[in-house]
Amino acid sequence: MPKHFLTILDIPRDEAKQVLLRAKEMKDNKVRTDLLAGKTLLLIFEKASTRTRVSFEVGVRQLGGDPVFIASKDSQLGRSEPLKDTARVLSRYADGLIVRTFGQEKLETLVEYGDIPVVNALTDEYHPCQIMADMLTMYERTPNLEDLKVAWVGDGNNMAHSFINGSATFGYELVIACPEGYDPDPKLLDIGVNAGAKVSVVRDPAEAVCGAQYVNTDVWASMGQEEEQKKREAAFAGFEVNAALMAGAADNAKFMHCLPVHRGEEVSEAVFESPASIVWDQAENRLHMQKAIIEWIYK
Ligand code: CP
Ligand code: NVA
Repeated sequence: MPKHFLTILDIPRDEAKQVLLRAKEMKDNKVRTDLLAGKTLLLIFEKASTRTRVSFEVGVRQLGGDPVFIASKDSQLGRSEPLKDTARVLSRYADGLIVRTFGQEKLETLVEYGDIPVVNALTDEYHPCQIMADMLTMYERTPNLEDLKVAWVGDGNNMAHSFINGSATFGYELVIACPEGYDPDPKLLDIGVNAGAKVSVVRDPAEAVCGAQYVNTDVWASMGQEEEQKKREAAFAGFEVNAALMAGAADNAKFMHCLPVHRGEEVSEAVFESPASIVWDQAENRLHMQKAIIEWIYK
């Protein structure tokens, strides 16, 4: 049976720590291997990407494999060829699928009809590769992840859902502040809580941030929600992560953002460009962590 990585919870808790340590080793020792020699991994993207696409293409090469990128709009998927047919065809050419798409159920269809590993490169529901990289970014500064308070300020979106699962796996306390109507999906919150996440949802950003070592946010309108931008700007008034909000966090607290950012909306220019901001390390760690995740799948 192939291994898949659709959410963080696909990696058993004890193995997740090993994956994190391996990603750190990959980074520190600039690890290159031939694990994927002779293997081709297909990247199928239905949404735009800079970091995820490039870090996967580079990472697959650094593990000795061949990445092939397919923009879905240029393939027959863009002309409505069913995913279940695509899954069976691509399984005969390649050794893995790295997929950025809309609904998580599309990944489940690829798993059901294909017979090669499927990796979630972002869906409407989750962004597990990003959060695993974020775990590495926090671990590098504070290895005791289970003792941390992490704040999420903003939309209860794919990133928030993955931070919930991250709490279940790595043990930190997560406090999410979001406006009414923009809560995490209750079903996904339940999945995280049932897996052991220590999470609460509040309305006041200052309450979420109070004493937190890490303050996270993300765009207010995710890919696919562009037409809601104006409505969301109004709903999220007061949710900007700015210097006043950061002042309530723990001493030496860090600001995190998966990027791309909307400066002056979810975060002020001053906080984003401040020494507290660790966003470039987060972006770099995508490469190292994804190599470790691929190794977890193929080794
Ligand atoms: N953070 C992230 O996933 O960035 P991209 O959309 O550029 O891949
Ligand atoms: N929540 C954002 C994350 C982008 C990396 C989105 O889905 O567009």
